Amino acid sequence: MPRVFSGIQPTGDPHIGNYFGAMKNYVKLGDQLGKNSIYCVVDLHAPTNPSAYDPKFLAQRTFDMAVANMAAGLDPEKVIFFVQSHVPEHTQLAWLFTVITPVGELERMTQYKDKAGKLESTPAGLLMYPVLQAADILLYKADTVPVGEDQVQHIELTREIARKFNHAFGDTFPEPKAVLEKDALRIPGLDGSGKMSKSKGEATTIGILEPLDSIWQKLRVAPTDPARVRRTDPGDPDKCLIGDYHKLFSDLPTLETVYQGCRTAGIGCIDCKKLLLGSMTQELAPIQERAAALRADPDFVRDALLQGAREARAIAQPVFEEAREKVGFLKL
Ligand code: TYM
Repeated sequence: MPRVFSGIQPTGDPHIGNYFGAMKNYVKLGDQLGKNSIYCVVDLHAPTNPSAYDPKFLAQRTFDMAVANMAAGLDPEKVIFFVQSHVPEHTQLAWLFTVITPVGELERMTQYKDKAGKLESTPAGLLMYPVLQAADILLYKADTVPVGEDQVQHIELTREIARKFNHAFGDTFPEPKAVLEKDALRIPGLDGSGKMSKSKGEATTIGILEPLDSIWQKLRVAPTDPARVRRTDPGDPDKCLIGDYHKLFSDLPTLETVYQGCRTAGIGCIDCKKLLLGSMTQELAPIQERAAALRADPDFVRDALLQGAREARAIAQPVFEEAREKVGFLKL
């Protein structure tokens, strides 16, 4: 049976890129594989990027991210769901991996280059980030990693670290594969360029827990197909951000209405955006209701995370012991 692992940073409210690119896949794989699917809020990764981290908010954002995932359908009774720093073997295994990972490989990572390029002084932890990510996955001997396209390079490095470890110390770890949601590889941000990401500012993201009137304020001013200067100009929904979001949120009849309407100038951009808001409301309102109920019962969420950490540790401890012995440490 496959063993799934994935992690998500504690940004509080995940955006629709996280949701369609990764979180929906967590739920789907969880339904199929039960306790063989392991998910984690990766709080240890957060302080590696000083521009996005504030100690005052870390605990709350970690809790909120757990709530968001549970509200989106992740059932802690069914899967293993926990917070990374509650299982100390993550950092312990990461240390063992630092000694077999060339610095040159880490400096090549696109995300490292992007983030380090914006900082005056680069913390060593930012460079080591993908080593900790490899430890996250291999600590559970996971072979399947549901992620968005931006994480593929890190998963390739994980495979390389597994290979190097196995070669140096004997067969221990599988070489895991990234699993991508083909229709949601890279959800664009509201600025219409690249990938939706919190680092580009809140104005470019749509949070799954964001109030619907705030979402509407953002949609109202979002760019559409630049060829549609006047209401009477026909447009191309495949070149339109709103068209992209419709593909994620809308059912087939709504999609047909907006695609046909846009191409024939039968529907204006504002009406098209209103239909999108309707589809978003259908998907997000129930999640937001569940999140409110979970927030009203914080002990339930905390107990679930505590139980998740226990379950995770029961797998992690023997794997770390195996790795530790193979590297040659004294056993008492
Ligand atoms: P993070 O927290 O940035 O993102 C969580 C997941 O969301 C996906 N994602 C997207 N997918 C499609 N379109 C987008 N615009 C978009 N933005 C984000 C990400 O690919 C990711 O799957 N390094 C990881 C966290 C991590 C991890 C791990 C992941 C730590 N350890 C072990 C897998 C396995 C990260 O920063 O994801």
